[in-house]
Amino acid sequence: MKLSTSFLALALALPAAWAAVPLYGQCGGTGFGGETVCVSGATCVVQNSWYHQCIPTTAAPTTAAPTTTAAPTTTAAPTTTVTTPTAPSASGFVYTSGTKFMLDGQKFTVVGSNSYWVGLSGLSDADMNKAFSDIAAAGGTTVRTWGFNEVTSNNGLPYYQSWSGSTPTVNTGASGLQNFDRVIRAAKANGIRLIVALTNNWSDYGGMDVYVRQILGANQPHDAFYTNTNVKNAFKNYIKQFVGRYVNETGILGWELANEPRCKGSSGSTSASCSPQTVTNWANEISAYIKTLDSNHLVALGDEGFYNLPGNPSYPHQGTEGIDFDVNLQISTLDFGTVHSYPNHWGQDGNELKWGTDWIIDHAKSQDRAGKPVILEEFGVTSNQPAVYTQWLNNVVSSGLAGDLIWQAGSRLSGGATHNDGYAVYPDGNVYPVIKSHAAALKARA
Ligand SMILES: *[C@@H]1O[C@H](CO)[C@@H](O)[C@H](O)[C@H]1NC(C)=O
Ligand SMILES: *[C@@H]1O[C@H](CO)[C@@H](O)[C@H](O)[C@H]1NC(C)=O
Repeated sequence: MKLSTSFLALALALPAAWAAVPLYGQCGGTGFGGETVCVSGATCVVQNSWYHQCIPTTAAPTTAAPTTTAAPTTTAAPTTTVTTPTAPSASGFVYTSGTKFMLDGQKFTVVGSNSYWVGLSGLSDADMNKAFSDIAAAGGTTVRTWGFNEVTSNNGLPYYQSWSGSTPTVNTGASGLQNFDRVIRAAKANGIRLIVALTNNWSDYGGMDVYVRQILGANQPHDAFYTNTNVKNAFKNYIKQFVGRYVNETGILGWELANEPRCKGSSGSTSASCSPQTVTNWANEISAYIKTLDSNHLVALGDEGFYNLPGNPSYPHQGTEGIDFDVNLQISTLDFGTVHSYPNHWGQDGNELKWGTDWIIDHAKSQDRAGKPVILEEFGVTSNQPAVYTQWLNNVVSSGLAGDLIWQAGSRLSGGATHNDGYAVYPDGNVYPVIKSHAAALKARA
């Protein structure tokens, strides 16, 4: 966490504390010229050579083991909130009005980042806090993360559901939902709300294929996830326990049915019958189910925004992956739409700028037709990032698209830099200033 002007303003408002570094503030490191004494109750801990941080004196700074006595999230407000410079007063739930997100009667700007790893890497509270404070320092209000990890054997990292044969068991312990409680607390302490995906099309962290394999056996089609009654019931049971725990939690912005649902999968095959209608039917059923459990939170599909225009020369427009963006956006129990942009994965090498611009404008038109917000919730190129992102993000602002989350957040934590898949954006990198000025522009947009 850099000393920001808002921190200085807070310090001036609280003269008794102004000489000391607040809890979780930076207190040293290479090139750091600020105050090095932590507030009472905190100790300056070397996280790495360039980042020393004020950590609660009672907290174990380097061990990942979460406390087993974690308080339930609904009693939330951590005592650290007042010392966190970016925290807004968080009351109420985010809702939609036409194509806008709203909070407590005001426009709420969805801007920020993806961090699948913040809850799944065994991070300490201090590292979770650093991850969110890096995003908040760039103006982020929202982080999308994974609310799933399906395991058949325990590898020591957090997981939320384990499988023994066809029987799943939700992990409510310190390495399970109590770990997710800590993710929410760290996000809230930095004024950040979470969009939480409940399963994965991809096999990373288990996902759909684990349900299909454990319940139906090997070599079943990926899309049985969308159609088999026993599989759907197992997913609903997971949702009941996960979503049910956080019904009253304002730190959650919304739920997503899945990360990037598609007909095709890596294990097994795809049924010839899987079509956009298959995923639409499933999205209808599951989103309606979530609404019966939780009327406080928004719900989205979590898809890539593919159109269903058979014969279109552009692959993401052809409908071949089993998604019809415009039709899904009509589902009454889906509150907002999501679109991803990876032109290099989608046959658009060399055409990233123009293709991405058109893709954003197309989805802004879909948004306006449906009268629901649409967010660019993942995007990435691996070269020329500052120029490409500057143009795309300007397109978001000018097209009226509701918001955006970059793929993906990067931080330098006690164990070193978080995983870089070629897209990670670190606070000392050349993309960070782009997303920071964009967040300010999007917040300023009428
Ligand atoms: C869906 O996820 C699987 C992993 O289970 C992946 O192999 C597949 O490519 C994904 N679908 C598509 C078409 O991307
Ligand atoms: C949420 O709040 C309602 C109303 O106060 C209460 O009845 C319900 O038990 C709460 N649910 C959870 C999961 O805390």
